[in-house]
Amino acid sequence: MEDNGLILQMRHITKTFGSVIANNDVSVSVRRGTVTALIGENGAGKSTLMNVLTHIHKPDEGDIVLNGKPVRFRNALDAAQHGIGMVYQEFMLYRDLTVLENIILGFERKKGGIFIDEIQSRRAVEAICERYHFNIPLNEKINDLPVSLLQQVEIVKVLYRGAELLILDEPTSVLTPQGIEGLFEAIRFLAGQGKTVIFITHKLKEVFAVADDIVVMRDGTVAGTAVPGRIDEHELAGMMVGRDVMLQARKRPASPAEVVLQARNLRVRDGNGVLRVRGVDLRLRAGEIMGIAGVAGSGQQQLVEALFGLREAERGSEIRLLGEDIVKKSARDRRLRGVGYVPQDRLGTGVSPESSVWENAIMGYHIAHGFRSKVFLDRRETGELARRIVRLYDVKTPGIDNRVKNLSGGNIQKLVVGREFIQKNRLLIIEDPTRGIDVGAVEFIWEQIMLLAEAGAAVLLVSHELNEVMQLADRVAVMYNGLLFDGGRHGELTDRELGLLMTRGAGHE
Ligand SMILES: Nc1ncnc2c1ncn2[C@@H]1O[C@H](COP(=O)(O)OP(=O)(O)OP(=O)(O)O)[C@@H](O)[C@H]1O
Ligand SMILES: [Mg+2]
Repeated sequence: MEDNGLILQMRHITKTFGSVIANNDVSVSVRRGTVTALIGENGAGKSTLMNVLTHIHKPDEGDIVLNGKPVRFRNALDAAQHGIGMVYQEFMLYRDLTVLENIILGFERKKGGIFIDEIQSRRAVEAICERYHFNIPLNEKINDLPVSLLQQVEIVKVLYRGAELLILDEPTSVLTPQGIEGLFEAIRFLAGQGKTVIFITHKLKEVFAVADDIVVMRDGTVAGTAVPGRIDEHELAGMMVGRDVMLQARKRPASPAEVVLQARNLRVRDGNGVLRVRGVDLRLRAGEIMGIAGVAGSGQQQLVEALFGLREAERGSEIRLLGEDIVKKSARDRRLRGVGYVPQDRLGTGVSPESSVWENAIMGYHIAHGFRSKVFLDRRETGELARRIVRLYDVKTPGIDNRVKNLSGGNIQKLVVGREFIQKNRLLIIEDPTRGIDVGAVEFIWEQIMLLAEAGAAVLLVSHELNEVMQLADRVAVMYNGLLFDGGRHGELTDRELGLLMTRGAGHE
């Protein structure tokens, strides 16, 4: 077979789910030893195409040619054995096992072909971590790790399994700038060694930083291909969403009113009993957006969980909502008092994937607000609310009875954001609101956050995207090593100055 330099050709792939045409006659080619960025709006069909590649989904039509040979994998394991390593958009890790156990599970090095050789397996994993600069605690349980580290675990896992073609589905959505830099280094290194990477992302800067080739999908088809040198960010955004995109928030000055949230000497431990929030004071007013930046593991996760009532605060901690002491109140009670929450981990705490869109649209609220005191849920009322969220937030779904697990990643995120934003909440605790959201919809969500504040809500925005915090926040704070540092008012500090705070706290002064 003649080698045309292509490791992969997907030809005329069509994949439907009922009435939804997720992939419509899609053809793409991928050159060996390169990085191909696969981009496009939420629901465009990117993840589906990759799931067809690994035969998680059987295509209705079309064929796949790998290294010049037609292939049809029986399942994901078969695909892995053919050197295709997929890092899923939603993590596929066993939460009660350690990092190392997750990585080697099913692929353990064997002693004499039978017994699992722990030491050999561990050495192999350590070697990969060292080589590609992954710094992950191999002995810790998945349960206790922040999302950013889980992503790295997934990548090390496929590398350990000998992947030749790596598919990374939005690998950077929760990584810190340093983490992204490290990942890109690893990706370029991999490509330099002849491995091939398909990289799905919504962040156009990343496309330019790492891709050799760009494939743009829209509405289930390939809208076009491009190379980074011959197109700019604006043109690419336009190609994705079919209109001009600003990539900028239209920030207006805030008019802060009464204090909505006040925390004093807040101290919180993680699941291992380690004190992760070590005495935080904060005060947030109605009409104000406070942004918290910080590298993963600085304690912002525990801070947020304690503020929403998902994690107990230490004795002596104080949390007040509109003056009322709520430190002992459950998350449900806080919700009843008008606290909304967009969690970082949308599939874990954000939604119930097996349930329908409409059930998820009222989840957490069916006892509160308008639905209180009703024994049976009013189907018409809940249906109306769900349809309103779907319409306003442009959630792509064939209907509100569709199960949430059938939505694309970004559309699940839009549903969660819409659910929390549409209620008249006094306080919104928002983590990574635009995680996995396409460039067109990011603008919309940013605008909604500002409108919420303008309507009098107090907004606590915790984001891995420093840019997002800087664009939206009236006041910036930086979490470092369990403490909260003042990062100034909107526009007061540069991203460099904030970056220093994030990595060193105020210690550099
Ligand atoms: N298992 C499924 N059952 C039914 N519909 C599905 C299923 N998987 C995907 N879809 C639908 O197919 C379309 C494409 O989804 P896909 O997940 O491929 O989008 P995507 O480009 O990866 O989007 P995102 O950027 O939001 O991750 C969506 O409309 C989605 O609802
Ligand atoms: Mg996807």
